[in-house]
Amino acid sequence: MARHLITSAIPYINGVKHLGNLVGSQLPADLYARYLRARGHEVLFLCATDEHGTPAELAAAKAGKPVAEYCAEMWQVQSDLAEGFRLSFDHFGRSSSPQNHTLTQHFAARLDAAGLIREVSETQMYSHADGRFLPDRYIEGTCPNCGFDSARGDQCDNCTKQLDPVDLINPRSTISGSTDLEMRETKHLYLRQSVMKERLEEWIDTRQGWPVLTTSIAKKWLNDGDGLQDRGITRDLDWGVPVMKGDQPWPGMEGKVFYVWFDAPIEYIACAQEWVDAGKGQDWERWWRTDKGADDVRYTQFMGKDNVPFHTLSFPVTILGSAEPWKLVDYIKSFNYLNYDGGQFSTSRGRGVFMDQALEILPADYWRWWLLSHVPETSDSEFTWENFQTSVNKDLADVLGNFASRVTKFCRSKFGTSVPEAGAQGPDEARLIADLTAKVREYETHMEAIEIRKAATALRAAWVLGNEYLQEVAPWSTIKTDEAKAQMQIRLALNLVRLYAVISAPFIPDASSDLLKAMRAEDAAWPEDVAQALTALPAGHAFDVPEVTFRKITDAEREDWQGRFAGQRG
Ligand code: MF3
Ligand code: ZN
Repeated sequence: MARHLITSAIPYINGVKHLGNLVGSQLPADLYARYLRARGHEVLFLCATDEHGTPAELAAAKAGKPVAEYCAEMWQVQSDLAEGFRLSFDHFGRSSSPQNHTLTQHFAARLDAAGLIREVSETQMYSHADGRFLPDRYIEGTCPNCGFDSARGDQCDNCTKQLDPVDLINPRSTISGSTDLEMRETKHLYLRQSVMKERLEEWIDTRQGWPVLTTSIAKKWLNDGDGLQDRGITRDLDWGVPVMKGDQPWPGMEGKVFYVWFDAPIEYIACAQEWVDAGKGQDWERWWRTDKGADDVRYTQFMGKDNVPFHTLSFPVTILGSAEPWKLVDYIKSFNYLNYDGGQFSTSRGRGVFMDQALEILPADYWRWWLLSHVPETSDSEFTWENFQTSVNKDLADVLGNFASRVTKFCRSKFGTSVPEAGAQGPDEARLIADLTAKVREYETHMEAIEIRKAATALRAAWVLGNEYLQEVAPWSTIKTDEAKAQMQIRLALNLVRLYAVISAPFIPDASSDLLKAMRAEDAAWPEDVAQALTALPAGHAFDVPEVTFRKITDAEREDWQGRFAGQRG
């Protein structure tokens, strides 16, 4: 048994996430965490909300709320949705936590002590009316390129031209509307990533077996010339971690906060502290400090491909640069994008299905199964309602659900609601057990390698084996000539229902627990030995016929949903 630390990229606080976000980190991380726990490993699975930065401030302003209040509310919303999708975090933290403030300031002090921080003077737009420097996105004006009158300081939304705030004609503050702006000199802190290039390269080269998607992105950024530039780690915002050197003020940095991408990954560590401080665990250092036992931990991170540079380069610079014995990631699992019905999911245009809407129309397991079995692993993938309908109706309703209901109903009508007794197994059963053993081992191999699509395929194939067996031995015919043999066949099939519930739990936890409950199974141990696992429900063991495990999606529903989620959420 090993110890596994698992983190999912922490979702931005501003708004409910769509299914593309969910499948890009949190959901696959949950699958892996559930699987490892089921195999008896000790797991610490952490996630949090990413609360700082301009988008959080803007979203709060739009909602007409103080940003702290907005974040607290949205944290609750996201936390409830995570529970709704059965994401089994040991703790769902907040990057705005006091623990993260302290730790972020600590890292900054260490990096400064190591000579890895330099001050850079820049000129930046200052607003007299607001009494502050304005980030690019807080400035609007007329686009010099197309004349659009609400172009942002960083980009024109009308002609998409990248802009500098100084390019804008008649610039104004989006906070106060004031045009009383001037360019002023201000100082920012830069992290000297460039001097760490060799160490990073060395570290990445020793990461055996990382997914190609992960290493190719890391290498590209390292070697592209402008990849490992020093980067600014401070911003002129109110909301964030105040720039301090540990608990000491940082001269010249008054009123500034750390850049959101500097403090967010540090939350992975702070979250473990929050977990302990919330009374849910003990000794977070055992997971994070290699001088306190974390050398035995295998640390796996899950994220979308756009997050890879921050996790292979920026965050490791923070960790390595601190010269303290913090745990580095062992394996990064990254994902491509999920598209929606011929286009992209879009938060701003409300296009696609969002987590809250998904749970309003169907239970979590339906989504979990489709999303995980179609996870954008080797390339981008696409959600279509047709595909979703087919997958749910075939895999879940016809194959798994139908098997459980057929077997239990047949038993009830012929032998009653306890596991029948008579009959000895023959060659058909031996073959099924051999095939199933091979499938389960294959499933385990893919799960261990986090090859999620392959794992889903193997799991489905295991379900199919049961159906094929039933079709072949046909207990409904057998019973006419050999009742004892029919009893044996059904006894085996009832045990298959239990075994399916156990191995399917990482994908579809609710259906699994319903099936286990229906089988009144106390033992949900992993089938290390498949033959033995298929004797777990002994003769005479009482069971219930499960309620409908999975229902089918009708064509009318599919059409209705297709129209409803085409755009403009609300
Ligand atoms: N909030 C970021 C996103 O959704 C992910 C941050 S991950 C962390 O893309 F490393 F910063 F924690
Ligand atoms: Zn323009």
